[in-house]
Amino acid sequence: MLARAYSCAILGISGIPLEVEVDISDGLPSFDIIGLPDASVRESRERVRAAIKNSGFTLPYSRITINLAPADLKKEGSSFDLAIAIALLAATNQLPAGEKIAESVFVGELSLDGSLRTINGALAIALSLFENKNYKAKTLYLPAGNSNEAALVAKLKIIGVSSLAQLVNHLCESENIDPLPSTMVHNFKAGCQSLDFGEVRGQEMAKRALEVAAAGAHNALLFGPPGSGKTMLAKRIPSILPTPDLDEILEITRIHSVAGLLSSSKPLIGERPFRSPHHSASTAGIIGGGKIPRPGEVSLAHLGVLFFDELPEYRREVLEALRQPLEDSAVTVTRAAATVSYPADFMFVGSMNPCPCGNYGDPKRECRCSPPQIFRYRSKLSGPLLDRIDIQAEVPGIKIEEIDSPNNGECSAKIRSRVEAARELQIERYRKIKVKANAQLRSRHFEKYCPLAPEAKKLLHLTFQSLNLSMRAHDRIIRVARTIADLDGAEVINSAHIAEAVQYRNLDRLG
Ligand SMILES: Nc1ncnc2c1ncn2[C@@H]1O[C@H](COP(=O)(O)OP(=O)(O)O)[C@@H](O)[C@H]1O
Ligand SMILES: [Mg+2]
Ligand SMILES: [Zn+2]
Repeated sequence: MLARAYSCAILGISGIPLEVEVDISDGLPSFDIIGLPDASVRESRERVRAAIKNSGFTLPYSRITINLAPADLKKEGSSFDLAIAIALLAATNQLPAGEKIAESVFVGELSLDGSLRTINGALAIALSLFENKNYKAKTLYLPAGNSNEAALVAKLKIIGVSSLAQLVNHLCESENIDPLPSTMVHNFKAGCQSLDFGEVRGQEMAKRALEVAAAGAHNALLFGPPGSGKTMLAKRIPSILPTPDLDEILEITRIHSVAGLLSSSKPLIGERPFRSPHHSASTAGIIGGGKIPRPGEVSLAHLGVLFFDELPEYRREVLEALRQPLEDSAVTVTRAAATVSYPADFMFVGSMNPCPCGNYGDPKRECRCSPPQIFRYRSKLSGPLLDRIDIQAEVPGIKIEEIDSPNNGECSAKIRSRVEAARELQIERYRKIKVKANAQLRSRHFEKYCPLAPEAKKLLHLTFQSLNLSMRAHDRIIRVARTIADLDGAEVINSAHIAEAVQYRNLDRLG
């Protein structure tokens, strides 16, 4: 007797439709799973066998073969348990193999007593089933703990199930389980950030630099002595980035779904992420991958901020590995079985002290580092990484007057509205090319999109010579000046815009 049921595997952030075929025939009793299962899928046998028995059903003493198709896709994890159990019950006539099964997708891990355990990636599965037009699934059955997350996807019937027995009763029409109403549109409201720029006293220059960075999606480096507020400022950057729209919210949530970081009580991530991995993190942790593939920090920071606090402390190989995602806005993780790609479009922010002791350049405190020590400290940042950082902002030690001053800093919402206006101009201007924000401009774009007033051109030439800038530094100044002009509502870049952009090259000048 042959029967089938459908399930879904996850590759990167996409769901891949999977067919589970069960054949039961005479012969020596056996139970095999074929079709490139890994060890975790092979363990399915024991879970399914026990769950079926403990739910009051039986398995025949026959030759049982389970085939997972497509055969060329390596299967991992425990989420096919439910589809395997359903196909087995259909093949043994304990469940009518009708339309209901043919038009449904089953995902979930079974525990030995037949109850269902939650899985990772429920939202990614639901979105993929919905997007994949030639897949005719109408209903998605999944663990009750995942149903809130999957119900974010409209137009797909989502049914949360708590046990195998309950599902069988439902499929036999003796018990009704209500589908979850789609919550996507109703519940959506961009979450408000809890940290605000208004809490940061003084540091007007650094705040302005971060406003410019946010307005053009430029990567930024904050440097200054310990305790000056670098970490405090960085944590508040998501609050001045444009409010995410629904598509962005779903993109962010989808990655967190695959990483298993959603809770059933808070299935939607409503704000831009801020990720700040420790400097001891491994390359796999940052970039993604590992034995069971998982998105790394660069992907968890997608559409938000990735912050490396004390940048020179990070391993060189980790900093090197950042280059690909910074260049491509995506990461490709190659594993033995498959190459997986995850989105990784984030704003990179780093912080560092000006020297190992932190006092270099401080008028009041003495720096005791030797020039070679300072050189070694700074050279930990490879040239290619620094090349991707358009804005270097100095965060000087806070003055005593500023500590006592009343807290009259501008709040994040006001800054954000200027950032959003500048981003609108960019979206409009770059409609025809593959550029979202000024940070992505290349030198071939400059002539058309970055017109310079004559005095601006003169000032740029002068600076170029007197500071002995590299061509790369020159390009960065133009990109940043473009953003400053956009914040100013100006189409032509003037000399004030260039002068401000030059300010954000402090490290080049110190160097
Ligand atoms: N400009 C500031 N306004 C208000 N508080 C500040 C400011 N700068 C520093 N602080 C306080 O000092 C603490 C240390 O700042 P932090 O951001 O960790 O400094 P850094 O990262 O530069 O070493 C912060 O938690 C904050 O309470
Ligand atoms: Mg800090
Ligand atoms: Zn020093």
